[in-house]
Formats: sequence, structure tokens, C-alpha cells
Amino acid sequence: MTLTRKDAASKVMVALDKPDAEEALRLASELQGAGCWMKVGMELFYAAGPSVVRELKSRGFRVFLDVKMHDIPNTVRGGARSIARLGVDMFNVHAAGGLAMMRGALEGVQEAIQAGDASQTPLVIAVTQLTSTSQATMNDEIGIPGSVEEAVVRYARLAKAAGLHGVVASPLEVAAIKSVCGDGFYTVTPGIRPAGSDVGDQSRVTTPRDAVSGGTDFLVIGRPISAVPNPAEALDLILKEMTEA
Ligand code: C5P
Repeated sequence: MTLTRKDAASKVMVALDKPDAEEALRLASELQGAGCWMKVGMELFYAAGPSVVRELKSRGFRVFLDVKMHDIPNTVRGGARSIARLGVDMFNVHAAGGLAMMRGALEGVQEAIQAGDASQTPLVIAVTQLTSTSQATMNDEIGIPGSVEEAVVRYARLAKAAGLHGVVASPLEVAAIKSVCGDGFYTVTPGIRPAGSDVGDQSRVTTPRDAVSGGTDFLVIGRPISAVPNPAEALDLILKEMTEA
């Protein structure tokens, strides 16, 4: 698959893991016009709240709200209704919450749409196993037996059965997910590390080039862009690598 630079950019979600709106919007400004998504996660959302999401939307960014909801179905339904009103393009829940909880998220979105409170229908995706989770952590601490790939595929199947649009997983699991859930089921993959960059706390990682070759739909990239002196240049190099995949 050969990607144009524009197509490559529309697959990149930059994790704005910053402590406040000021720092996050400074990074967003540096990347304005590149065509990538912005991912707002817990660190930023808990500090800056809905207003930073609205600001990013008003600057023309597509926004993935990475709040990984995991609660009883009724609470997740209400949370999803509030998120849909914010006008984000994508948000997520944990597949480990089960079918009723994932369906609750979709119901919340529908309620917001039907009430005329949401400008668009966001994609709802499920976290399978965090990309920081190793086989040993999953087996010995969380208590899920078998391989990580088996657990991820089981969660992906469950998310699909609930009617969700895709899953968050490691790029290493994309082929197995697509073979079970079909090509149209989105894969969103953190754990992306350009050659030579720090792995940090991630465990199941791959390069941007290999993620694209492996069929990933969206690449979530944080520290390799946000924690370097020149984020725009880092993104540029990543996009170049993706177009050469
Ligand atoms: O800095 P780094 O590239 O590791 O950032 C990855 C981002 O993706 C973080 O914001 C993290 O919260 C998020 N994420 C993840 N694994 C998941 C889901 C989201 O690393 N399964």
C-alpha cells in the first residue's frame, strides 16, 4: 500500500499528553495544517476539560477523546451522551466492561443525536489490552490466561458484536483482528516508535513503517512527537516513513 502524505497524516493521532491547555494548544499550533488528528487523553482532559476539546475542534482538528470509560452501563451511557455533545470524532471504552456496557456507549451517542444535541456521530472504539501490558502482566497480575493476541482478538470480537466501530490494540495484533472482524473494523494502534526513539513504558511496539505495512488504520503517537525539541520535524519524518512503507 502506498500512501500519499495527506493520507498518511489523516492516519496519525498525536497524543496531547500535556498538563494544561496552554501547553497542549502550543503543541497543536506547531502541528496546525499538517492534517493529523489530536488525541486528548486523561492528563489533559482532567485538567482542562471540555473547553480544550472545543478549541481544538474550532481550529479544524479531528479529535479522539481517549477517556477509556469503564463503568456500569448506565453511567457509560450518560458519559457517552455528554461526549457526543462535545462534537468529538472518536472516543473509547474498555472492552473489558462487557457487551452491555459497550452497547450503553452507543445508546448514549444515539440519545444525543436524537435530541439534536450532537453535531456529528463519533466513532466508538474499545480498548483491548493496553499496549503497555506484557504477556506476564496479563497472565500473572490481571489473571487472563493465554497469549495477549488471543485476549485481544476475543475482546475485538466482543466489541464488534456490541456494534462498535473498532478497537485500540498493538500494531502487532492488527492482522489477527482484521482476519476475525473484517477490514472495515478500525484498528487504532498506540505503541508506535520510530527507529532509535525511546520505548518508555510501552511494551508491544513497532515502527510507523511496519504499522502501515501491517494495515493499521490509525497510528497513535505521543512522546516521539510531543517530547522532542521539534515536534513538526518529528511528525514530518514519521509521515515520510509512512509514505515509503
Ligand atoms: O507517548 P506514547 O506514544 O507512548 O503515547 C501513547 C498514547 O496512547 C498515550 O496517550 C496512551 O494513553 C495511549 N494509549 C496506549 N495504549 C492503549 C490506549 C491508549 O498507549 N491501549
